[in-house]
Amino acid sequence: MTTGATEAIAAALLAFIEPGDEVLTFEPFYDSYGAIIGLAGAKHVTAPLLAPDFLPDVDAMESAFSERTKVVLLNNPHNPTGAVFPREVLVRVVELARKYDAVILSDEVYEHLTFGVQHLPVAGIPGAAERSVTISSAGKTFSFTGWKIGWLSGPAHLVAAIRTVKQFLSYSSGTPFQSAIAVGLALPDEFYSGIASTLQHKRDILAEGLRAAGFGVYTPQGTYFINVDTAPLGIRDSVDLARKLPELVGVAAIPVPVFCHPEGAERTRSLLRFAFCKKTEVLEEAAARLATLRNKL
Ligand SMILES: Cc1ncc(COP(=O)(O)O)c(C=O)c1O
Repeated sequence: MTTGATEAIAAALLAFIEPGDEVLTFEPFYDSYGAIIGLAGAKHVTAPLLAPDFLPDVDAMESAFSERTKVVLLNNPHNPTGAVFPREVLVRVVELARKYDAVILSDEVYEHLTFGVQHLPVAGIPGAAERSVTISSAGKTFSFTGWKIGWLSGPAHLVAAIRTVKQFLSYSSGTPFQSAIAVGLALPDEFYSGIASTLQHKRDILAEGLRAAGFGVYTPQGTYFINVDTAPLGIRDSVDLARKLPELVGVAAIPVPVFCHPEGAERTRSLLRFAFCKKTEVLEEAAARLATLRNKL
């Protein structure tokens, strides 16, 4: 048990990497990855995910591995793109991790939030279990982000190394919340499919609003994030639009370049990430406000 997935990621990276080692992630990447890799003094190597489906460029992924790759930090379903990786991508990641003897650290906090596709835990791919640590969290599934209850699982020797770090980060946290989350985890499958179908409906409301507002919309297969291209509205720089959007229409979004290193930031320069983990009426109001954007630019 960890203080959210955030601590699981930190403790695992600090357990497995030394200064000079390399950690491979896809890009764009969830922001805490870069921060912790930097704190550990390791090198953050990335392989791009490419629009429209945000699947990896497999050749680039292959050449991003090296003898110094200690950890492949996978995030599936993926924040910020909403991609859910198919079996063939996971199989290739596992083959490469085995070839370079890297640990697979798999952040699966959005495991239950998929729409019409099945999430495949990487640890279930043949040859992966003995080198995989899987991370999840109550934050996304139960919408209890503030409780900071996370967990990880994997082979005993890898978990022992992580526990050794974790005891000096927080020792323990949120014990009464852990009991509550244990009850939640025992709920029947219908509870989990219900969360996903409610969220899919919300995705569709926001996607329709964004399309009507003139954005190019990349409909996600998982998570509660939706990415749009601002170029069809004549806007090249999503960072600039993200700064202005609250004032223009009272809606906030995160520019995708902030989840990238400089080269990736250039590649994703016109991409903007919206979140749909909101009440239906809030999403409808957002869609109505976004419809007025074109006239205000
Ligand atoms: C991919 C990913 N991993 C981890 C986290 C952090 O999870 P927690 O709130 O459980 O620390 C987030 C939160 O946004 C996330 O998107």
